[in-house]
Amino acid sequence: MYRNRLLITEEQIQHRVRELAEDLNKEYRGKSLDIVSVLKGAMIFTSDLIRLLEMDVRIHFLQALSYSSGTESSETVNLHFTSVFDIRDCDVLLVEDILDTGITLDYLVKHLKENAPGSIRICVLLDKPDRRKLNIQADYVGFQIPDDFVIGYGLDYLEYGRQLKYIGVLDRSEYEK
Ligand code: XMP
Ligand code: MG
Repeated sequence: MYRNRLLITEEQIQHRVRELAEDLNKEYRGKSLDIVSVLKGAMIFTSDLIRLLEMDVRIHFLQALSYSSGTESSETVNLHFTSVFDIRDCDVLLVEDILDTGITLDYLVKHLKENAPGSIRICVLLDKPDRRKLNIQADYVGFQIPDDFVIGYGLDYLEYGRQLKYIGVLDRSEYEK
């Protein structure tokens, strides 16, 4: 496991996920919600969140490949769909692990809007506002965090660290070698 220091505890995450679910349960009460979860980083957040939702939900996955190296953002996004899904006139919630420069989510929202959803909102576990390059905000944010590279609770460094129950800041010595 790459060295990291604790930033957000398991208890803090679970508490905040419950609060987010309560907000969503109010917002979408009596409706049917199409969740579009971005692999791989959002998988754990998504699976904890959906089990607290009370409305009807359908889950879809897509994979957005935007990171060419370990910690540096690339400016192009490649999309892979695990299955074809129709979101025309549906209420869509895009669930992502982290909003960083905004390039990935901006691209995804534009792409999904081409499929004429009834509504589309963004839910992210983490938000790094200092890093934003595009003017995009999430409707639901778990935690705002400083500009540090984090791992855990689905987020990885070179594919490791997703299994951590907490979120930790990656030790700089791991990538400034
Ligand atoms: P952008 O810059 O497009 O980035 O908003 C979003 C994607 O970049 C990844 N990302 C991170 N992954 N720790 C991670 O494990 C981080 O601190 C981090 N910052 C950005 C993430 O995959 C996200 O989907
Ligand atoms: Mg990643």
